Amino acid sequence: MCREIEVKNLTVTYEDGRERFCALEDVSFTMRAGELVSIIGSSGCGKSTLLSVLEGLRSPSSGEALVGGEPVTGPSPERSVVFQQYSLFPWMTALGNVAFALEQAQPKLKKRERLELARHHLERVGLAGFEGRYPKELSGGQQQRVAIARALAEDGDILLMDEPFGAIDARNRALLQDLLLELWEGDGLLPEQRKTVVFVTHDLDEAILLSDRIILLEADASRGIPGHVRDIFTVPLPHPRHRHDLLRSPAYSAFRCAVSDIFFGEEEASSLQFARKEVLAA
Ligand SMILES: Nc1ncnc2c1ncn2[C@@H]1O[C@H](COP(=O)(O)OP(=O)(O)OP(=O)(O)O)[C@@H](O)[C@H]1O
Ligand SMILES: [Mg+2]
Repeated sequence: MCREIEVKNLTVTYEDGRERFCALEDVSFTMRAGELVSIIGSSGCGKSTLLSVLEGLRSPSSGEALVGGEPVTGPSPERSVVFQQYSLFPWMTALGNVAFALEQAQPKLKKRERLELARHHLERVGLAGFEGRYPKELSGGQQQRVAIARALAEDGDILLMDEPFGAIDARNRALLQDLLLELWEGDGLLPEQRKTVVFVTHDLDEAILLSDRIILLEADASRGIPGHVRDIFTVPLPHPRHRHDLLRSPAYSAFRCAVSDIFFGEEEASSLQFARKEVLAA
């Protein structure tokens, strides 16, 4: 298994012949195998750029991204991706989409086994009975469930998710977050047996609910400051997590206040400086 991620002094510059734009500069962090880390930060700070490097679709201008100690040189079945935009094949049913991913990941499977396994993955994401629907016949939330089933079917060790629930209404978003937690935490899985997940989001609450750690990126294009790591926070809450208990826990509230001060740039004005220091030191 090659699941640790190491990003070392990563700089990414977009060039179109006439112009150069530095989107990320000197970004470094590491992730343990089986860790779920959220990347948060305002629009344009380089979150998707970072994910595209980890996916292998974009090369660093300098620095490197390593997975399992090896530089990422292109897309790999080891790394499954779920995007914000619904990315299902519109001409295939839900079952067809998941079965197609299985065909790519496990070409030796017989058709009957493939369909059986595809059905199983759809059932895991709560879509039993929807196998024969085409994407246009599914709600946004259901389409994202198929995308998650497809990523499960690919069974890569690493899951890269770019605002996967960004376009979903609040209730369905909560259901999908719970589903992701349940699938990732697994039933009795040891932390190191879990998938390594990089989860991009704008939503601080979503990041806290899901993550072991949160990487906050920031950028200021108007002042020519490229995306860089502002802070890395360890979420001081154990897994498995349950939304209901978490939202009522004092540790959650204190941590949320501390990080939101920094996230929303109100650090100086805050009356919660003390709490912040206490929580972040814990
Ligand atoms: N192909 C490209 N050519 C030039 N600049 C680009 C290109 N793609 C992205 N950028 C710029 O790089 C910066 C980072 O973009 P990126 O898409 O990574 O941001 P993001 O953090 O994912 O934003 P959002 O939250 O809105 O999705 C932005 O300023 C963007 O305009
Ligand atoms: Mg983006």
